[in-house]
Amino acid sequence: MKQSEPTELIDELLVLAEGIAQKAGELLSNRPDTFDINQKSSARDFATHMDHASEKLIVSEILAARPGDGIIGEEGAARESASGITWVIDPIDGTVNYFYNLPGWNISIAAKDDQGVLIGIVYAPTLNSLWRASRGGGAYLNDRKIDVSNADTLSDSLIATGFSYDLAERVRQGEMIAHLIPRVRDIRRNGAAAVDLCHVASGAVDGYFETGLKEWDLAAGGLIAREAGALVTGRNGGLAGESMVIAAGPALHALLTHEIG
Ligand code: IPD
Ligand code: CA
Ligand code: CA
Repeated sequence: MKQSEPTELIDELLVLAEGIAQKAGELLSNRPDTFDINQKSSARDFATHMDHASEKLIVSEILAARPGDGIIGEEGAARESASGITWVIDPIDGTVNYFYNLPGWNISIAAKDDQGVLIGIVYAPTLNSLWRASRGGGAYLNDRKIDVSNADTLSDSLIATGFSYDLAERVRQGEMIAHLIPRVRDIRRNGAAAVDLCHVASGAVDGYFETGLKEWDLAAGGLIAREAGALVTGRNGGLAGESMVIAAGPALHALLTHEIG
């Protein structure tokens, strides 16, 4: 770990985030028989009462332990930070999977400081998988250190992607897939961006790209992928102001960027 990283703070945040993710996982694993749905940007984009219940639990547990921290939550939690730490929360990443009782939905919790994301936890109870990373401290799946695949050809690469809730964007994404599908081993659309990024981290897929991700989709999984050796960038090498995210080991990242960048 780099000397400059605050190790005691990192340990505290990791333990806190992991415990809270597990509590949220228990809450969500107890599936209700019926769902209250509220529509967001379109009929395709909705949250259930369980998204709200999960966010409420996560926020109250964070603030009970660290009342000065800031919060950015997908379902509306927002709070300025007085401590310099801000939590970025996706209380259910993969709501559509959760709603249909498909695996892969997860709880994504990250904490950032003024240098960027400091720690990230992604917990997917249906996959028995908890990924964690801290800045400079590597990435782990269920306590086992993980690394990206060393794929260096498109034809030998399994690529994950996702589709936006915005229809025009979906059409563009479909065109990108049409371009890529004859060039790669295969494509996966698993339905949860944070797990897609963690799958890049552990080599369960070779690469991932998607346009239109939000901060809560990317914060924890992006750190986990980077700490496992992936490059996680937009089309032009950075992420700021970019709608595209491309995540893969360095060799494949360059090839993917060339094809879809
Ligand atoms: C969505 C999922 C999906 C991805 C979308 C995300 P949500 O998150 O991660 O896989 O394709 O871009 O918005 O809405 O289920 O939290
Ligand atoms: Ca999400
Ligand atoms: Ca969500």
